[in-house]
Amino acid sequence: MRRVEIFDTTLRDGEQSPGISLSVEEKVEIAYQLARLKVDVIEAGFPITSEGDFESVSRIAAEVDGPTITGLARVHEADIVRAWEAVQWSRRPRIHTFVGTSDLHIEHQMQSDQEDILQRTGEAVRHAKSLAPEVEFSPMDATRTEIGYLAEVVRIAVEAGADVVNIADTVGYTTPVEFAAFLRELQERVPELTERTLSVHCHDDLGLAVANSLAGVVVGAGQIEVAVNGIGERAGNASLEEVVMALATRGDHYGVEVGTETRQISNTSRLVSNITGYEIPPNKAIVGRNAFAHESGIHQDGVLKDRRTFEIMTPEDIGLEGNNIFLGKHSGRHALKDALEELGYSLDGEVLKRAFVRFKEIADHKKSVTAADLEAIAADEVGSFEGKFVLGSFRVVAATGRQSRAAVTISHAERGTFEAEAEGEGPVDSVFRAIDAATSIKGRLTDFRTDAVTGGKDALGEVRVTVEFEDREYSGRGLSQDVVEAAARAYVRAVNVYTAGRVGAAWATP
Ligand code: KIV
Ligand code: ZN
Repeated sequence: MRRVEIFDTTLRDGEQSPGISLSVEEKVEIAYQLARLKVDVIEAGFPITSEGDFESVSRIAAEVDGPTITGLARVHEADIVRAWEAVQWSRRPRIHTFVGTSDLHIEHQMQSDQEDILQRTGEAVRHAKSLAPEVEFSPMDATRTEIGYLAEVVRIAVEAGADVVNIADTVGYTTPVEFAAFLRELQERVPELTERTLSVHCHDDLGLAVANSLAGVVVGAGQIEVAVNGIGERAGNASLEEVVMALATRGDHYGVEVGTETRQISNTSRLVSNITGYEIPPNKAIVGRNAFAHESGIHQDGVLKDRRTFEIMTPEDIGLEGNNIFLGKHSGRHALKDALEELGYSLDGEVLKRAFVRFKEIADHKKSVTAADLEAIAADEVGSFEGKFVLGSFRVVAATGRQSRAAVTISHAERGTFEAEAEGEGPVDSVFRAIDAATSIKGRLTDFRTDAVTGGKDALGEVRVTVEFEDREYSGRGLSQDVVEAAARAYVRAVNVYTAGRVGAAWATP
């Protein structure tokens, strides 16, 4: 059977989702899990856009073995050099360069003309190929590009040495039948393309990203670009789990196979959701919590008699065997490390030490610490690695019918310890105001969500906040059995993200 490669762009296009901004540690953690999932290619970032992106692509290239590691670059000399400097440490490095090819993009975004774009494509691919053993070229907004011109661009890229040509449905505009015909015509117009890998990159603006990607497979695409949980620009990218399970379950129909370790899908999906803060809708195909739940009596009866009556794949296929991990207060650091590894987190050194302290604190108050608790602790600790502000202690006085009053102590890695008090509408508001006063940084809360990690009165509370500083939004997540403390931790984390100058992987301007 023909092998289709899975190219994961969670760390690049996925990170362009509104409100997502990952630290280097978080990206490295996700990359390790993508390697366990056995994706073929990891797009680790867009190195020219920031020091943080450069560092994370370099670290992933140096540390994460197995998949090809690629970094994105516009058709600019400086972008290509920077991408190479970052991916060169991988055993399998690739440079991915792209340029807009539709009239709209050429005229309005690039403020250029068709001739110039042809020339820049050839130069960029040749330059990238002189540095890296593998080069991918993407015509951006390809599906709204006149096919004759797109064929010219693709021919030039192939002649210049592109190994992979990735046809991007950047704005999620095409439909499956149309896309298949479009790709066929492109293959007829550029026969040289058959010697290279044809790839597709589909966005989900009309909810068709997965269907369009699969239409690409039908006409010979050898690489599909996806993101875990379908995150990405606007409505997102084709979802990894849906594409992989469609190909794995219906290999008979598509006549292809994938190398993905499908039993790692569930772990990967939860890890990305925990770290990014993007929740998974309950009815989401494959990884939603209802994906294998049978509600109607007839269905339940059928499944009890023979699961195949109402299940086309099993929970075990995606690694959802029902986790049996239960740790208690007598469990040691090794047991914690092993349990976390089983859940897709590879914590070491300082981060493991801190996770262990948190685990002990929680185990002292809770009968048993479950897999969900451990995942929440791990995601929280991986994310808190870079912060300079640390919440010391807090005290709140709250009562019906009067303003709450909070006092906080916050320490800063270089500037010492600060204390402040404030009044507010309820305990959470007063704590946030006190943090503003202690850090001398005023934020505006734009989103606040709270959830219990597991059931029971002793459950861990999780709070996610989005806070605006200087017209930009930053998010934070906090975890504690005390929901006010979880809120305070989440708020301090957002302050840390802001002060570290970390913004999402915004497109660099020329
Ligand atoms: O959507 C898009 O066009 C992209 C390219 C960089 C491939 O993400
Ligand atoms: Zn995209």
